[in-house]
Amino acid sequence: MSSPNKPVLGIIGGSGLYQIDGMTDVSWRRVSSPFGETSDELCFGRIGDQPVVFLPRHGRGHRIPPSELNFRANIDALKRSGVTDLLSVSAVGSLREDLKPGTFVVVDQFVDRTFARVKSFFSTGLVAHVSMAKPVCSRLGDAVMKACEGLDLQVVRGGTYLVMEGPQFSTLAESQMYRQWGCDVIGMTNMPEAKLAREAEICYASVSMVTDFDCWHPDHDAVTVDQVVAVLLGNAGKARGLVKNVAPLVGGHEGPCAKGCQTALDHAIMTSPDV
Ligand code: ADE
Repeated sequence: MSSPNKPVLGIIGGSGLYQIDGMTDVSWRRVSSPFGETSDELCFGRIGDQPVVFLPRHGRGHRIPPSELNFRANIDALKRSGVTDLLSVSAVGSLREDLKPGTFVVVDQFVDRTFARVKSFFSTGLVAHVSMAKPVCSRLGDAVMKACEGLDLQVVRGGTYLVMEGPQFSTLAESQMYRQWGCDVIGMTNMPEAKLAREAEICYASVSMVTDFDCWHPDHDAVTVDQVVAVLLGNAGKARGLVKNVAPLVGGHEGPCAKGCQTALDHAIMTSPDV
């Protein structure tokens, strides 16, 4: 796969982000993929001069649970739509006392504990191993941090996102173990999304919106959907403000991203072309 130079910003909106502010020339279109159906039609438009493609991760109306998302179709359709830079927005629980509900975390690492999802575009016939040492694009992360300036929000740069299978929330033992592992937030959606974005040579950054303290916190016995939704509704405007501000910041570089995300396959293919 090759990456065009002209940046196109993709946004995958999770719970709480179902529309984008300030988008013009909007049209919703189905993009077909050999990997199957995407979560919904993709929403094409612009923010200022910047082409933007938005996909509601769970579909409009939040119809698809995390384990049933067709991550391959979603990433493939975004790639086919020209997306070069992908901002993922999702709701997470906090595994740290100082990451309170309402905080936005620009995560930079993941621990993938999912087990019931197809995680690669590659399989028998074409074998590839991309590096996931640095799973997010720090250039796009810089843009996200800059986009937060002037917005009234608590944002933290860096953090490890534990991706669980779900759909049930964690047991107390699991939650405590993830804290011991040094993880900072927990959610159900960023894997294999980040792995597939890397295989598709798309720059990826992820903004995690903290909605709850999971179940480890002595003052918060259990997570409830009501609690998650209440915090999300309070933060949706801020998330939309962030996305609007990030759009003009993704361009301004010549050729593929210097961080290597857009050339990730250059040294990743194992299969010999001669056989
Ligand atoms: N999404 C929001 N809060 C969560 C939690 N505590 N665990 C997993 N996913 C979540």
